[in-house]
Amino acid sequence: MMEVTFYDRESEIKEIMDTMRTKPRLITFVYGPINSGKTELISHLIKELPDRYAPFYVNLRGRFITGYEDFLNVLFEIDEGGVIDNVSEYAQSLVKDLKILSGIPIPLNLFEQIFEKKDKSKDMFKYIERFFGEMSKKRVPVLIIDELQVIGDLKIDGLLIYKLFNFFVRLTKELHLAHIFVVTSDSLFIEHVYSQAMLEGRCRYLLVDDFERETTMDFLDKYQFSDAEKEAAWDFCGGKPVYLVELVNSGDREKKACEMFNVTSGRIETELKVVNELGAKITIGDSICDVHYENLIDILRKFVDRNEVAINEVDEISKRYLVKENILFVDPLSKMIKPQSQLNLHAIREVVRDA
Ligand SMILES: Nc1ncnc2c1ncn2[C@@H]1O[C@H](COP(=O)(O)OP(=O)(O)OP(=O)(O)O)[C@@H](O)[C@H]1O
Ligand SMILES: [Mg+2]
Repeated sequence: MMEVTFYDRESEIKEIMDTMRTKPRLITFVYGPINSGKTELISHLIKELPDRYAPFYVNLRGRFITGYEDFLNVLFEIDEGGVIDNVSEYAQSLVKDLKILSGIPIPLNLFEQIFEKKDKSKDMFKYIERFFGEMSKKRVPVLIIDELQVIGDLKIDGLLIYKLFNFFVRLTKELHLAHIFVVTSDSLFIEHVYSQAMLEGRCRYLLVDDFERETTMDFLDKYQFSDAEKEAAWDFCGGKPVYLVELVNSGDREKKACEMFNVTSGRIETELKVVNELGAKITIGDSICDVHYENLIDILRKFVDRNEVAINEVDEISKRYLVKENILFVDPLSKMIKPQSQLNLHAIREVVRDA
């Protein structure tokens, strides 16, 4: 097996480091199509961060969160090392040799206190603010939440996500206490965030997309791809890192690329067939809406001779369905919609040719 090392992302790393060199002012939303390398980029950055930063990385992927209790358990890393009441002393004791933590450290007794409170969010935010406040005397706290959309719909006395955003605005714009990064592959979530008045002028967006053609070719050169293998890789997989990594370790790379293409086109074909034969519904707000097969096909046909189309060329129901099914990706900043990958683009072209 060839070990694939972290590749490129120079401009994204520069942008993030430039942001972190100034005092925290805005929340940064890191978004991009699925499997484009967002989590990999963040993990790489965390490892390389100079000592003056204290990163806390929370990943909500795969976590089953149905209430505050679950959320608190993911957000915090419980420290069972004895009863501690003084948050300042606790933060100072950790600051010297802080490891990379998958949660904000909290002594068990303080965690239990928050857990017992009726208004948990108030106490949870109060603790984090004090902890970061203390920590920031020596190091700059960096809070990264991956896959935040997992709690997008969680309602307890109103939406938790709005309370969190308000708190993040406080930590950045008002107190300049911590850098906040929110990472997501859910482009509908980003589109929603983008339209929130409460976040206007309080956040920035960083797109982490699949590699460009030139970067892809340079990456493949590192692993001794022949010209034919490189062309097959680009034609079928484009610059999606996860596919490229898979090709690196395949015996017959051209055949593997072709197989991946067949799997994706097969999946899209089946999904469309199901809608055609059985229909489908999606929920938008409080409405349950019918998905129309003909509309889906009309939209996908637009990609026969274009790589992307404008958001306003596509009806809302079909757009949401195709994004939810990971066929299309919406970029609210450029107001464009494109397939989730080059692989999807080619697969769409093949599927609509036969539809
Ligand atoms: N810059 C890179 N260099 C080398 N390999 C990479 C790079 N970025 C991503 N990869 C490979 O692609 C895989 C998928 O990347 P990653 O999980 O970071 O994507 P993601 O955008 O976070 O996905 P998701 O949308 O599911 O959250 C990684 O496990 C890694 O093998
Ligand atoms: Mg990820």
